[in-house]
Amino acid sequence: MKILLTGGAGYIGTHTAVALVEAGHDPVIVDDLSNSSEEAVRRVRELTGRQVPFHELDLRQQDALTAILREEGIEAVIHLAGLKAVGESVAQPLRYYGTNLESTLSLLEAMRASGVERIVFSSTATVYGAHATPPFRESDQAGVDVSHPYGKTKFMIEQILADAAAADPALQATVLRYFNPIGAHPSGRIGEDPAQIPNNLAPFVLQVAVGKLPLVRVFGNDYDTPDGTGLRDYLHVMDLAEGHVAALDRLEPGSRVYNLGSGTATSVLELIESFRRASGQPIPYEVVARRPGDDPATFADASLAAQELGWSAKRSIDEACADSWRWQSQNPRGYAS
Ligand code: UD1
Repeated sequence: MKILLTGGAGYIGTHTAVALVEAGHDPVIVDDLSNSSEEAVRRVRELTGRQVPFHELDLRQQDALTAILREEGIEAVIHLAGLKAVGESVAQPLRYYGTNLESTLSLLEAMRASGVERIVFSSTATVYGAHATPPFRESDQAGVDVSHPYGKTKFMIEQILADAAAADPALQATVLRYFNPIGAHPSGRIGEDPAQIPNNLAPFVLQVAVGKLPLVRVFGNDYDTPDGTGLRDYLHVMDLAEGHVAALDRLEPGSRVYNLGSGTATSVLELIESFRRASGQPIPYEVVARRPGDDPATFADASLAAQELGWSAKRSIDEACADSWRWQSQNPRGYAS
């Protein structure tokens, strides 16, 4: 199938492009390059041996987007594009609501104008909110106490898709709620390339391992967890990428929601230790205060995706750390290397 991949030059997008080609699909990348680079697209082409088409475009340019959908003969869309920094979304809520919602509405209008009826959307486990008890199930109430505008935009888009599918019996929409993606393609050619000092644990630890940052700050070791540090459901980005392919292959009229997680919980200290083994580098850390808003533990009940999509995460944390290290050590300055 010919697939429009919005945000296709980003971390998850590049890996999804590779997984799509491996599964026999033809991705067409659209990205405004606001948080990515054309070098990432070049590396996707190098890895796949395909001249994957790329359009530099803001999705709000609806006429241009409609023309791309028509001219490329797009049959389905995987919608990853959006602003995604939690702290920034608190400081700049209007920019987050504006960008994430307007670009999605523009995309849905462009799809309608060009007769494209299939969409897979990238959401987040954050939508389960602060009250939720892990493991999170798709049937759990979501959207109630989501603590930041970024997460709220994701939940609003989930609702827009459900309403659009209820109104249009031909629309096929699947929402994927990601847990914590880590790792990189095993080639070391594509990976996560944060523009600033990373907020998330895995890219931060990698920059300590490569010597760019002095030490990891562990946000609290007094949680009610086995070693006192936060538990998260980390999954390899190639597993996540393959989850999109599985969702695409099983689209049906209506809207559906699936967790994409490994279903296992790993602590901050366990993840640091796994990166230490993978890199062979010392990873100094110090325990500091809890980060406001952090949950003690979040992890998926991953059984629905296994039953209905035939998908489950296969790669280990150690494999993800080894693949990340290959990317980071071979590209210490990311795509600028
Ligand atoms: C965060 C966001 C979430 C977003 C996700 C994207 C918050 C509250 N949540 O999730 O909305 O969808 O990123 O990947 O920001 N940690 C440290 N030191 C660090 C960084 C993190 O100890 O320097 C700990 C955290 O306390 C947490 C774990 O590592 O226990 C994972 O943190 P992180 O990678 O930021 O992901 P989430 O908080 O799960």
